[in-house]
Parts: sequence; structure tokens; C-alpha cells
Amino acid sequence: MFYALVIFGVILLWVLKNHMKWRKEILNHIEKIDGPKAYPFIGTLYLFFGVKRSDVYKTICTTAEQYKPVFRTWTKSTPEVHIMKPEHIEIVLRSSVLITKGKIYELIRPWLGEGLLISTGAKWFQRRKMITPAFHFRILEHYMEVFVEKSKQLVNILESKSNGEIFDIYPYITHCALDIICETAMGVSVNAMDDVTGNSYVDSLYRASELIIRRRFTPWYHSNLYYLFPEGKEFQKHLNVLHGFTSKVIGDRKQILKDNPNKKINPTFDDMLTSSKKRLSFLDLLLSANETIPDKDIREEVDTFMFEGHDTTTAGICWSLFLIGNNQDVQGKVYEELKQILGDKKCPESISDLSDLKYLECCIKEALRIYPSVPFISRKVTEDIEINGYKIPKGVYCNLHIHKVHRDPEIYPDPMKFDPDRFLPENTAKRHPYAYVPFSAGPRNCIGQKFAMYEEKTILAAILTSYKITTIDSQSTVNELAELIMRPEQGVRIRLQKR
Ligand code: HEM
Repeated sequence: MFYALVIFGVILLWVLKNHMKWRKEILNHIEKIDGPKAYPFIGTLYLFFGVKRSDVYKTICTTAEQYKPVFRTWTKSTPEVHIMKPEHIEIVLRSSVLITKGKIYELIRPWLGEGLLISTGAKWFQRRKMITPAFHFRILEHYMEVFVEKSKQLVNILESKSNGEIFDIYPYITHCALDIICETAMGVSVNAMDDVTGNSYVDSLYRASELIIRRRFTPWYHSNLYYLFPEGKEFQKHLNVLHGFTSKVIGDRKQILKDNPNKKINPTFDDMLTSSKKRLSFLDLLLSANETIPDKDIREEVDTFMFEGHDTTTAGICWSLFLIGNNQDVQGKVYEELKQILGDKKCPESISDLSDLKYLECCIKEALRIYPSVPFISRKVTEDIEINGYKIPKGVYCNLHIHKVHRDPEIYPDPMKFDPDRFLPENTAKRHPYAYVPFSAGPRNCIGQKFAMYEEKTILAAILTSYKITTIDSQSTVNELAELIMRPEQGVRIRLQKR
């Protein structure tokens, strides 16, 4: 017993000594970088104490503005470096080594587990390779049918709102996007659009996202003791709803496959490409992988794709509507293009139709520039890097401010002006390739970016062909909530007029 204690003591001392050496080295480098004063135990988290939810983003922007282009903060005793210049962002995103996600994702892990967004190393690599075919261009052609059907249904539902009343279109788009991701990627109909006033999955998703951000800025919530606080218990309650919904989706799809002998249970990529198997989905790939994927892992991937696959596109569509409805000249040009390309059709019906809607695409890109659905991403620095002359040592976290690079006046003059022409080929040619990264870039870029663009274009084209929209709030009055997803706090209040 005595010897065991001595050995344990020696190991502990050795670990502590190495840890202190590592911290001293980190401190040496990190403290060369400017940033707000840090205090013991809380680091720089005090910046957010007592700040209203609606003001958190302003606080982040003020801090970034004060210390740009590179600054450091401390989350308790963990240093984080913040970057916002294209050339710095490129260093992180291009790396094939820096693929481990940052601190904030630890708070998302109870929800999304080790799904594609959060996993790293060999697990991430293998899954990415396996899932990529489900988002191949040829598969998306089959999904187009769903985009069109759901967009037309949405346009019909909106008919009851076209009497000049002011209403928030956000929940309508959310439910449409949820129907689309379930029917395409999961192969299951959830008919969320049948009731846009209440959906427990959507309600729990919004509240859980809010609670994750509150936890991030509240030091005493960081450990697992969080679950003993009322807020932690509430978070757990919402997790149960979110996981319950995705478990049901998986159960429903398994049942459909079991009941329908014509559907091949173990599709290959080639099967997925043949038209007779057109509704074989991403979920089918997981359910029938060669080496069996544990049920828990399937749930985590479904949770990830369900969230990433609808919340991001909803925000993108809604910010596009917000801006188009605020800029009638742009709306006029979009309508002209729709008439010219679609003729009498009320909705694009093929990918070729979508490809011809070039001005609409510029509008979507410009909306994603000003209001990127994912405003920040974060990485763990797993090998030393150099940014702006500073050495950022291994072990530090690095936050990439997508929203700041997109609003940099040196790259985009008058950055808050909605000007879709910025995305005409002649205007993008000379821009730094990392000056516009709404879908991230490099090995961990968004796997669903083509899916997202097709879905956004179809829904927007369908709405704008049938209705003229007028936005009620302006860019100066809208409150941006830049949390996991960037949303307008008060939704998108509009008026519709039938064309
Ligand atoms: C406008 C819509 C979208 C935007 C702006 C967007 C943006 C992003 C960004 C910035 C990342 C990198 C996140 C990070 O590094 O933390 C990402 C990753 C990801 N996105 Fe998207 N996304 C969109 C739509 C979609 C859709 C429709 C899907 C699925 C159908 C999807 C699935 C994913 C997944 C699974 C990842 C993780 C990929 C990996 O790490 O290998 N996204 N997305």
C-alpha cells in the first residue's frame, strides 16, 4: 500500500510538473496577444455577466472591433484565440491536421454526440467517406422532387396569409425545411407543415440552443453539476424531446424498409443512383452499412443531420426574404428573372431550372454573407501554428469569426448594404478565396452545401413567383442573435401580396 501511494505520488508530481511547464509555455505565447483583462477562475467571461441574450452578439462585436484582427480571451483557465482575416482563417481551414472541434462543441455533445459535426480523427474520416455519396449531385436530383412538392405546399399554406396582414414567416419556413430533411435524408414523412403553430421538436431545439449558449457564458454551469441546477434539468428535458423525435424517425424508417420488400435493405452507392431506388436515403446507408453501425451512432448522425440540415437552411431562407423584402429594386430583378426562366411555371422543377436562376443565387449568397447561418466555428489547435506573427501553441482553442470576415469593409465596402451584384463573376474573381466562407472550407467543410443551395433556391423561387413580399423590420431595427445559428430575434415579419 505504502509503495503504491509513493508511485502514485511520483506520477502525480510528474504530471503536474509537465502541466505547469506546458501552461507556462502557453502563457508566454498567449499573453503576447492583445485581449480583454482576464481574472482568476472566470477568465474573461465577466464580459457577458448580466448581458441580455439580445445584447450578447453586440458584446462579441465590440470586443472583436476593439482588439482585431487577432485577440485572445480566457474561458476560465482555457485560452482562446479569435481570428477574422481571410489569410488567417485560411491557415486553420486548409490544414488537414486541425480538424478537431473547439470547446463550445463539448456543450453540444450531449445532444449531437459523436456525429459527423463533432467527431474527429479516424471516426470522422471514415464516416465522412461513407456519408459523402448520400449528398452526391445525382442523389440531389432525386431530392429535387421533394423540394418542389414541399415548396408548393408551403405556397398554398401561405395563401391564407396573403390578405395584407403582418405575420412572422420564420415558423412556416422552419416546418417546411424540417419536412424536407426528414423526407429526403431520412426517408420519413413527419408532416410538420400540417401544424405550424406548435412542434415539440422545433420548440425544444430553440430552447436547447439558447441554454447551450447560456451555459457557455456561465462558469459554474461548465461541469456536469449543471444537471443539478434547474436550467440543467430543463436542458435534459429538451434533450429527451429531441432524442425522442429522432429515435422515432429511425424506428419509422426501419419499419418502412421492413414492410416494403421492394426497397433494398442494403443499398450500394450505385443502387442509390439508379432511379428505381430514388428514395433510398442517407439513413438507409447508415442502417445497412457493411460493418454494423451501433444504434447509438446512428441516432447521433440522425440528430446531427436533422439539426444541421434544417436550422441552417431555414435561417438562410429567412434572412434572404428579410433582405429581399427590404429592397424592392432587388425583388423586381428577382421576379423578372423568375418570369424569364420559369415562364408559366409556379416553381422551378429541375436542377437545370435552378442553375439558370443566377441572380437569385447572388441574392442567397449575399444574404449568407451579411447574415451567415453559422456565424462562428471553432477548432482545437492540435499542432503549433503561426498567425499574424504570433505562435499559437498546441492545446489552445481558435475561434473563426465568419460574420466578421464577411462584414470586413476592406473586402466588402459598405458591408451591411444588400448588394447581390457583389457575387457576379467579375466581382468575385479577385476576392481572397477565404473572404467568403458561409459553408466553411477545407476538409471539414459543409457536406450539405449543394443540398442547401438547391433547397433555398427552390423555396425562395416558389414564394417569390407567387407573392410580392414587404418586410416590416429594417436592418437597423432587427436584432441579430448570433448563437449556434444566426437568427433574427423577433422572427421575420412580412406582408404578402398575391402576384
Ligand atoms: C445554408 C445552409 C448551411 C450552412 C450555412 C452550413 C454551414 C456549415 C458550416 C459553417 C459547417 C462547418 C461547421 C464547423 O466547422 O463547426 C458545416 C458543417 C456541416 N454541415 Fe452544414 N450548412 C448548411 C446546410 C447544411 C445541410 C442542408 C446539411 C445536411 C443536409 C448540413 C450538414 C452539415 C454537416 C453534417 C456538417 C459537418 C461536416 C463535417 O465536419 O464533416 N449542412 N455546415
